[in-house]
Amino acid sequence: MRISLQGQVALVTGASSGLGAAAARALASAGASVVINYHSQAEPAEALAAEIVAEGGQAIAVGADISQEDQVERLFAQTLSRFGQLDILLANSGLQKDAPITEMSLADWNTVIGVNLTGQFLCARAALRQFIAQGMRPGVSKAMGKIIHMSSVHQVIPWAGHANYAASKGGVDMLMRTLAQEVGELKIRVNSIAPGAIRTAINEEATEGAAQAKLLELIPYGRVGEAEDVANAVVWLASDLSDYVHGTSLVIDGGMSLYPEFRDNG
Ligand code: BGC
Repeated sequence: MRISLQGQVALVTGASSGLGAAAARALASAGASVVINYHSQAEPAEALAAEIVAEGGQAIAVGADISQEDQVERLFAQTLSRFGQLDILLANSGLQKDAPITEMSLADWNTVIGVNLTGQFLCARAALRQFIAQGMRPGVSKAMGKIIHMSSVHQVIPWAGHANYAASKGGVDMLMRTLAQEVGELKIRVNSIAPGAIRTAINEEATEGAAQAKLLELIPYGRVGEAEDVANAVVWLASDLSDYVHGTSLVIDGGMSLYPEFRDNG
């Protein structure tokens, strides 16, 4: 079985590195034309677009701060002016600004909620408006459009020292499920992915050296995840192979959310 996203356009936010970059690469290799959104790292985003084009695919890099409404509008306008349509949104942009709660500044709270939650709302709203304007595209996909929200295991696992991040991901879960309930009848599919510890820049410290050994105690499957573990699931969720999957959060965490501390009988 081969997954093909030929003839479809995917927009990936936060795609200059980490999970977003791996997903953009995987979507392109499945045949989708890809818009690589970045916030401040133009260079790696342009390089990724060039790499995809060199391999025979189609891609552009577009800068935008997705927590800002006008910039999101511009990002979608540029997507449409280059590719004429949109079929898949991977709302992936996310960041951490960790601090004990008594020391967490309002600015850091607002930044994290702004990017991780409000940004996902703004991008999902823009994508939904576009899907509805386009209508069904028979022969391209069984769905009118697909949205994949990047969440985290911390949509359910409380995380001391990361209240802003955990709250944002809890919000993403409820945003995703509510949108799925609201737009399902239009044949627009909305799902999310909830990764655990994946080797990317966001958790570089935790996935190396002694810290990694400690982290592995939390992962029954015994390894840290790779960005490709998540990217492969993105491609599947974007494809017709998952056409009956709707309103679901796919946990990709090597078992991190299985209460690993109970392995030895509690
Ligand atoms: C965070 C990572 C963390 C992982 C598991 C992710 O959502 O971004 O920093 O390692 O959850 O705790």
